[in-house]
Amino acid sequence: VSYSALEEHHRRIHQLDHACAILDWDQAVIMPERAGSARAESLSTLRGLRHELATEPRLLDLLDQGERERERGNLNDWQVANLREMSRQYRRAICVPRDLVEASSRAEAHSEQAWRVLRAQNDWNGFRPHLEEVVSLKRQTAAALSDALGCTAYDALVDGFEAGIGAAQIDVLFDDLRAFLPGFLERGLERQRLDQPVIPRGPFDTAAQKELGRSLMAAVGFDFSIGRLDVSHHPFCGGVPRDVRITTRYREDDFTSSLMGVLHETGHAKYEQGLPEAWLHQPVGVARGMATHESQSLFGEMLIARSPAFLQFAAQFIRDAFPVQTKEQPGAFEPRNLYLLSTRIRPGLIRVDADEVTYPSHVILRYEIERDLIAGKCEVKDIPELWESLLGELLGLSCRGNDKDGCMQDVHWPAGAFGYFPLYTVGALLAAQLHHAVQRDIPDLNQQIAGGEFGALDAWLRERIWSKASLLGFNELVIGATGEALNPIHFKQHLQRRYLDRVA
Ligand code: CO
Repeated sequence: VSYSALEEHHRRIHQLDHACAILDWDQAVIMPERAGSARAESLSTLRGLRHELATEPRLLDLLDQGERERERGNLNDWQVANLREMSRQYRRAICVPRDLVEASSRAEAHSEQAWRVLRAQNDWNGFRPHLEEVVSLKRQTAAALSDALGCTAYDALVDGFEAGIGAAQIDVLFDDLRAFLPGFLERGLERQRLDQPVIPRGPFDTAAQKELGRSLMAAVGFDFSIGRLDVSHHPFCGGVPRDVRITTRYREDDFTSSLMGVLHETGHAKYEQGLPEAWLHQPVGVARGMATHESQSLFGEMLIARSPAFLQFAAQFIRDAFPVQTKEQPGAFEPRNLYLLSTRIRPGLIRVDADEVTYPSHVILRYEIERDLIAGKCEVKDIPELWESLLGELLGLSCRGNDKDGCMQDVHWPAGAFGYFPLYTVGALLAAQLHHAVQRDIPDLNQQIAGGEFGALDAWLRERIWSKASLLGFNELVIGATGEALNPIHFKQHLQRRYLDRVA
């Protein structure tokens, strides 16, 4: 009885999340310019209601009674996991005092707004006090969560984005990559000098790019009856599992950035669309976390869409989309050239523009700084120096005096999202590990992909990842899907094959 009351309660919370997700999408995609302040009020009221529902005092009793139903053996595996997730969310929501929640939300909103202006002006000193305020409040929140959850402050923040993975595990994975990446980068750059792609010349009509993106989305299994593709300034995957909203942006001089971006977001979308129907409105029915999510987008983009097999399949779609350009430069649209084009290593200052070889270095840099920042081992004023020294060490680059493209480039810290960065690379490691496992299980996978057949691949992912939603913890999910704990060897071998051996 109590358990079913909990399900009913969480169904209502989910409906609010649904409405907020569509309002967020609308704000990023089609909202008129001056509607912003009214929208902000509406969203803040809905989020306030959500917080009230999520922290209702009667929930404590219901969760206790649900626990007794579990002890009596009245709940099945999914219900037990659902109760665990409800309880986890409740403990996270209840332990942070309301005035701290409000102060943080206000400070983060102001800091993000200030960041938009001050980043453009390269004004670190002007921005610093805003970030100091955000960090000070975040440390208080992390301390409260840490007491309630019995883990370190930083781990409590990571737990908010992906449960069951913490700094101890991340440190081991990243130390391994840290020892590998700088030397690999040098060898990869050396190797690619021998094999330069022809750069296709545009302009590439936006409508043709959109049609190309939509065709390939459909080919790889995106369900347009429960999803859309639109345009926004920063690409994302939003909405809810039965109404998924992905976005992209187009450049007329380069069709590959949008195309690969679309296939990345499609990876996120297929995970959402593949979540189990019966649990859609419950905490156990949502995607496991941000690392798992990124494993699905990077799997779709990096392991599949940028592979020779996929580009062999996609080449005809691309030629059909741009017949004039193909006639002028036929060699540029050959599968082999498209592959070289899609796998260029280009070390640079900007994380979101990074390739799969240099991306982890951008992440490790941010991870080491934010981990120490939350632990109180360094302060906001130290960030530019730490950034400069890690950037030199990991990528051989410098951004001294250019904080705009250094420590001010990302929205995460200004918006208070600490504990998120490492999950991008944890996701990349998992994507490579899943690819290794699926190739073992489907030996002719590359032939299937070259022929445009994605059914067996999707069935494999659906069974091991999508249909599991949040039934298992992160590490259990990884072991169940691949037969072993997260192991960076698969990512390193993938890079070796693709960038040094040039075979995959
Ligand atoms: Co992503």
